[in-house]
Amino acid sequence: MRVLGIETSCDETGVAIYDSEHGLLADALFSQVKMHAEYGGVVPELASRDHVLKLLPLLNQVFECAGIAPGEVDAVAYTSGPGLVGALMVGASTGRALAMAWGLPAIGVHHMEGHLLAPMLEAEPPEFPFVALLVSGGHTQLVQVQGIGEYELLGESLDDAAGEAFDKAAKMLGLGYPGGPALAAQAVQGDRSRFTFPRPMTDRPGMDFSFSGLKTFTLNTANDHRDSDGKIEPQTVCDISAAFEEAVVDTLAIKCKRALQHTGYKRLIIAGGVSANQRLRERLQLMVEKQRAQLFYARPEFCTDNGAMIALAGCQRLLAGQRSDLSIQCKPRWPLASLDGL
Ligand code: KG4
Ligand code: ZN
Repeated sequence: MRVLGIETSCDETGVAIYDSEHGLLADALFSQVKMHAEYGGVVPELASRDHVLKLLPLLNQVFECAGIAPGEVDAVAYTSGPGLVGALMVGASTGRALAMAWGLPAIGVHHMEGHLLAPMLEAEPPEFPFVALLVSGGHTQLVQVQGIGEYELLGESLDDAAGEAFDKAAKMLGLGYPGGPALAAQAVQGDRSRFTFPRPMTDRPGMDFSFSGLKTFTLNTANDHRDSDGKIEPQTVCDISAAFEEAVVDTLAIKCKRALQHTGYKRLIIAGGVSANQRLRERLQLMVEKQRAQLFYARPEFCTDNGAMIALAGCQRLLAGQRSDLSIQCKPRWPLASLDGL
């Protein structure tokens, strides 16, 4: 089955064509990051308007790249939540309308299910069951995954998401938006032993997270090192970045280890924007080796938002006979655990 996938839930317009037999045929992405950087965060109305401008050119691009005529697919999948409602509406209404015009089935996909299945786009996909750590700009969740749609939430962030914490810490250090990759780049040149940041909620049982205290700790440390102009010495920015990254990565690793022990599973997948973080990958690799388990993740461009993961996730559900009706439905809030199995 050949599926067109459309992602417009936040600030990336992603379109892809996935074939259940031959894998990914084409993939195109436009990131609005530069436009939102000016405001220090995503401006929802600007995001929606830009999706309108970029979606049709990207659709033409993927059909051309795949060498097939527009509409020569078997079904259409689009992100229908969670996300920004105006942004979601662009992809959902376009996807639904195209499917109707082409006489094809369509399906609304859960954005986080897309992230969760993204490692399956790689050459050695994980088998079920596994533990999934979903770490994006909006979510930090540990999920027990028995199969597609069989999700049990083991833990989640009680306040900021991991990516959000990266973005806010980066902002405090004057590193711009989006902060995750910028802070990670500074951390590489930092001395990881100069500052020790707390590992929130690791001294009590459970698999929930909290990153707001770490954010305050970062702000206080940064303020302690500002000169009279409010500037922080470049090496200190690197050292604070390294301490922050180390604390987040360590906290995530401790909870992932607990989740593997709790479930008895031997596979851990990481997905979402923060799973592109090199330090996190290295730290988790060491942890899973000690647990005699395996770590799976997608290539960096499929860790952040993209159309390929939506095409793949939609394809699995369509193959199982699931369809969305003709109404255009978006769910800005949509718990992952509420999804049906196949
Ligand atoms: O999954 P994603 O593209 O969008 C959401 O669904 O939220 O995740 C974006 C988040 C941002 O907070 C960004 O700063 C973070 O992922 N991120 C990273 C890295 N690359 C992206 N955080 C840490 N290290 C990175 N290398
Ligand atoms: Zn995402």
